[in-house]
Amino acid sequence: MTPVVAELERLGLAEFLADFPGDGVDRLEWAAGLRRLDGGLRTVAGFLLLGEPVREELLPPALRGVLPALVKGGVAVRGAAGVQLVDVSLFRAGGVWLFAEPPSPFPVRHYFGRDSVALSRRTGYRPGGRVLDLCSGPGFQGLVAARQGAPATLVELLPGTAAVARLNAELNGVADRVEVLVGDLYAPLPAEVEPYDRVIANIPFLPTLSPRGEEAAHEGGEDGFSVGRRVLAGLPRYLAPGGAAHLTALLLQTDRGLVAGGELCAWAAEHGCGLTVTLTDRMAVDADSDLVQTTVSDRLETDPEAAPEELTAAAAGMYARHGATAARLAYLRVDHGMADFRVFDRAGG
Ligand SMILES: C[S@@+](CC[C@H](N)C(=O)[O-])C[C@H]1O[C@@H](n2cnc3c(N)ncnc32)[C@H](O)[C@@H]1O
Repeated sequence: MTPVVAELERLGLAEFLADFPGDGVDRLEWAAGLRRLDGGLRTVAGFLLLGEPVREELLPPALRGVLPALVKGGVAVRGAAGVQLVDVSLFRAGGVWLFAEPPSPFPVRHYFGRDSVALSRRTGYRPGGRVLDLCSGPGFQGLVAARQGAPATLVELLPGTAAVARLNAELNGVADRVEVLVGDLYAPLPAEVEPYDRVIANIPFLPTLSPRGEEAAHEGGEDGFSVGRRVLAGLPRYLAPGGAAHLTALLLQTDRGLVAGGELCAWAAEHGCGLTVTLTDRMAVDADSDLVQTTVSDRLETDPEAAPEELTAAAAGMYARHGATAARLAYLRVDHGMADFRVFDRAGG
């Protein structure tokens, strides 16, 4: 345990966070809970959880010691009112402390969400078993693995987010078994690298209206699965026989089943892999739906002159072209060396 984590635990921050259900990522719940705190814990929690500015001399010494790294990593600034976190909060889930941003209707730089926690609950690591965490963001999946003794390689497209992942590895005292690479999926890996025991990928899956191949880091292409397809394409090379991969995905559904069902089943058969798809949350895809409206606001961010009605029609039309009546949050488990395809629907239908 690093001195700063020891200090946070001694102060009671782990105890405070442990009482929020489901490894909560909700800052409003924290704000309500914080009203019942006082003293040093209130100051530290206000600084780390709610982003309140604080005079440095009021922070405990070990936390003061990491401030230069936080400022250098772009997640804290010093100002007239003191030092303050920028965008991120400090989360704790699965025993990992993580500087990250919770999901928002707007693109975030250092992602952490309920899907992150749900994906990590599906994984299992063994000491010494090598792990590849693609789309690592600020590092949650790879850090869960490293805490269990697995050496982890993290790959993240955004250099600033990769820097936060390195900072989080230091914070958790696992930097000696975590390497963070910057780049697109498998591209930064050395040509001769051995296949991995586990491959984890919490991919960006917001369906987007951008022309193919021009997705930003938080976008998932026309049907939301373009990054997922590229992760699957690399698994026969990068996942060891007997190894397992875990992905998140947003899968379109028609009245007859998953739009990508045939494609996924064929992929599993062709590559000798077991593929288990667990469908959880169901999302509407009509013009008024949150999903379509998020796609529209995402596009308006880069193209403010565009007409919202036209974008809404284009986004809803994108789902209609596939015959989609819903989009499903999905967790994919791939077992290299089994040939099998299964779909579990946890929302019944
Ligand atoms: C949904 S977040 C997942 C973060 C983290 N793995 C988790 O589970 O909480 C997806 C991350 O993938 C990164 N990303 C997007 N496209 C990528 C690509 N082609 N290669 C590597 N990283 C990518 C994004 O910048 C973002 O940080």
